[in-house]
Amino acid sequence: MLLRNLMPRNVWYVAAWSSQLVAGEPLGRRICGQSLVLYRAGDGSPAALEDRCIHRGMPLSNGGEVDGDLIRCPYHGLEFDASGVCVRMPGQQHVPDATRIRSFRVVERDAMIWVWPGDQTLADPEGIPKHPHHTDPDWQWTSIFLEIACNWEMLNDNLLDLTHLGYVHKRTIGGDPNAHAGAEMKTTQTGNSVHVRRWIPNSEPPPHYKAGHAFAGKIDRWQEIDFVPGLLRLYTGGMDVGTGAYDGRRTGGVQFMGMHGVTPSTATSCYYFFSQARNFRLHEPDLEAKLHDNALATLLEDKSVLEAQQARLLEEPGRGNIDMRTDAGGLHARRIIERLYQGTIFPS
Ligand code: FES
Ligand SMILES: [Fe+2]
Repeated sequence: MLLRNLMPRNVWYVAAWSSQLVAGEPLGRRICGQSLVLYRAGDGSPAALEDRCIHRGMPLSNGGEVDGDLIRCPYHGLEFDASGVCVRMPGQQHVPDATRIRSFRVVERDAMIWVWPGDQTLADPEGIPKHPHHTDPDWQWTSIFLEIACNWEMLNDNLLDLTHLGYVHKRTIGGDPNAHAGAEMKTTQTGNSVHVRRWIPNSEPPPHYKAGHAFAGKIDRWQEIDFVPGLLRLYTGGMDVGTGAYDGRRTGGVQFMGMHGVTPSTATSCYYFFSQARNFRLHEPDLEAKLHDNALATLLEDKSVLEAQQARLLEEPGRGNIDMRTDAGGLHARRIIERLYQGTIFPS
């Protein structure tokens, strides 16, 4: 069934782009149903606390003030340190022991702020998926942030089944729908990860690719997707037909490394952190702007479909759906999420 509400908490999720967490400005997020306030402590390191003052429940993100390592409640001024301990109560000398709110492990890495909303004793930063393209000078990247009114698993499904490109994205990254549907596809699951490889030989380059490179004619395209809960990486590209795309000589043409942080917020909403890195024609602001606009247009096409789909599914939440051959990747991902949620497998 497409409609379900599984938000495993023992996962590292992207909570924000580093650039979104500005010193002195608390940021509210709701992850796996848990309301969080993020802020930068005095040394710039990120902190994550529950977004609920212990006094009367005021959200700290709603006007709270950051003062060094502390955050001050905007209602009656209680102050909490970055570990959630209340260190000051205006109007009284004594702060009772154990007056605290929950704190969450938070790590800044690869230009992202990662949060572990689950059992804090299990949070191991070694388990954070790596995305070195954000710091590799051979690649240049642009990012987008969206909130989408759909369950996060629907966005996972969307990214693991790219046959929608020819229909949803015909004006952007699409290309010929039949070529996508007929792509040679291989799906493998290893532990908590799923890999989907799709090759589309001898196909028409989509407008998005033509914007970046002058192809001789048709191209050999590839789309290689790696999924772990919370993050998908899509390595895509195209080269002139027969010039090595499928035998390990991927130089020239167009190559993109897409990163898609998919963070569950509530049963019917999620955060979408997208970045697109490229290793061709670096430092060309006009091209950069064009690719960014094209990526945004593409993602808004997905958003529109996902929100329409969510609304329709909610009309009859108990009703089932059918699966197709091309859903293989998404179905693997759903099984992994199910087991993580049930606690029968551990985060890797
Ligand atoms: S609600 Fe926060 S200090 Fe009163
Ligand atoms: Fe899409």
